[in-house]
Amino acid sequence: MTDKVWGGRFDKGPDEILNLFNASLPFDKRLYAQDIDGSMAHCRMLAKQGIISADEAAQILETLKEIRAEMDRGEFLFDEGFEDIHSLVEKTLVKRAGPVGEKLHTARSRNDQVSLDLRMYMKEAIRRLESLIHDMQGVIVRRAEEEIEVIMPGYTHLQRAQPVLLAHHLMAYYEMLKRDRERFLENYRRVNVLPLGSAALAGSTFDLDREMVARELGFEKISENSMDAVSDRDFVAEFLFASSLLIMHLSRLSEEIVIWSSQEFGFATLPDELCTGSSIMPQKKNPDIPELVRGKTGRVFGHLVGLLTTLKGLPLSYNKDLQEDKEAFFDTMDTMEQCLAVMTRLLESMTFNKESMREGVEQGYLAATDLADYLARKGLPFRQAHEKVGKMVLYAMQGKKELRELTLEEMKKFSELIENDVYQWLDPLHCVRRRELPGGTGPGAVRRQIELAKREMGI
Ligand code: ARG
Repeated sequence: MTDKVWGGRFDKGPDEILNLFNASLPFDKRLYAQDIDGSMAHCRMLAKQGIISADEAAQILETLKEIRAEMDRGEFLFDEGFEDIHSLVEKTLVKRAGPVGEKLHTARSRNDQVSLDLRMYMKEAIRRLESLIHDMQGVIVRRAEEEIEVIMPGYTHLQRAQPVLLAHHLMAYYEMLKRDRERFLENYRRVNVLPLGSAALAGSTFDLDREMVARELGFEKISENSMDAVSDRDFVAEFLFASSLLIMHLSRLSEEIVIWSSQEFGFATLPDELCTGSSIMPQKKNPDIPELVRGKTGRVFGHLVGLLTTLKGLPLSYNKDLQEDKEAFFDTMDTMEQCLAVMTRLLESMTFNKESMREGVEQGYLAATDLADYLARKGLPFRQAHEKVGKMVLYAMQGKKELRELTLEEMKKFSELIENDVYQWLDPLHCVRRRELPGGTGPGAVRRQIELAKREMGI
């Protein structure tokens, strides 16, 4: 059989170089289930509207079902010579069911068909990603609860800044993932629109029941403008953007895990079974998983910029450029699924080294802000308090001491306001405990955030 669903107006058949360059089957065969399910809904609607007979519809449906089952079982031989999944399914239908199969494409174009297939696939993809994000959030919440007592240095500019709870640090990623989930769910609403019935670009001369197809395929609404419907790939770009932000978050977490597990930091230990070794340096244990997640950020951002560039300047309506959307989408989807799964495993099983974190908090004047607050509470304007504490830090550094190691006498030289109660203000545990305001790093505040998160997640 000829593999093309066009050809009538051509004198000569297609050149091999065109076939190879033009074909999308090698990657769009992933859409076979959606393509067939969409075709079956279309077929039932054609029959209900009296556009084809009930008997014709029954024959088409029977054969489509059989093809889908064969493909599900992995027994169908995908002939790569075909142009795309749409022509492959249709041609196979005609071959098996006879000329009646040629009625299926009535009032339909591959332009609305491909958008339908992709939307159907993406709806499932988003649900899968959404549930993987949910799993990762669950692990974060659990680890935060387990480590609620652990204090670590918080950083800005990667310089020790103030003591924080490890749980607070971990829960920061919960918040990022929460926004990521929201973004995918927003994206879902715009994917959930049925384009079928737009046909090539102008709609159809047949009296189609688009609402029926939408209901059957579980779409919330139908598209309002056929020209937009066949041209629109905003929903793909949105998916790539939501994925870009998500993998950017995973990459930041990865970077922290790489740093934390270094000998210089020693804050975390990764399980042996999730690390690799070196072919030359026998002592090495390398954090390949977070490095790879960090590295894969590049390809996801690349797909986003690539698709936006493809879309820019395209005239309405369908153009073949749009075929470029699928590899970007599939590769992003696969990458995100993998990255979420491995990062969740890693978070579940890594250990945090409380002692090293604690040591990190003891050195580097992390209580300096609290000392300035202490003076400000005693009436000194904060700017002056800041200046005085700065001088005290300099003095302590010169004597190779921490602030808490200065005597009261030494401190009083800087301000008469300082009294014996100052030492409590220099204790990292108290620094943390004083920050019980909403969103702060106090144990009570962090516990409240964890409780809220559990309610949000329904756990
Ligand atoms: N393979 C095409 C794509 O992925 C399907 C739509 C083809 N439409 C057309 N008029 N050639 O976009």
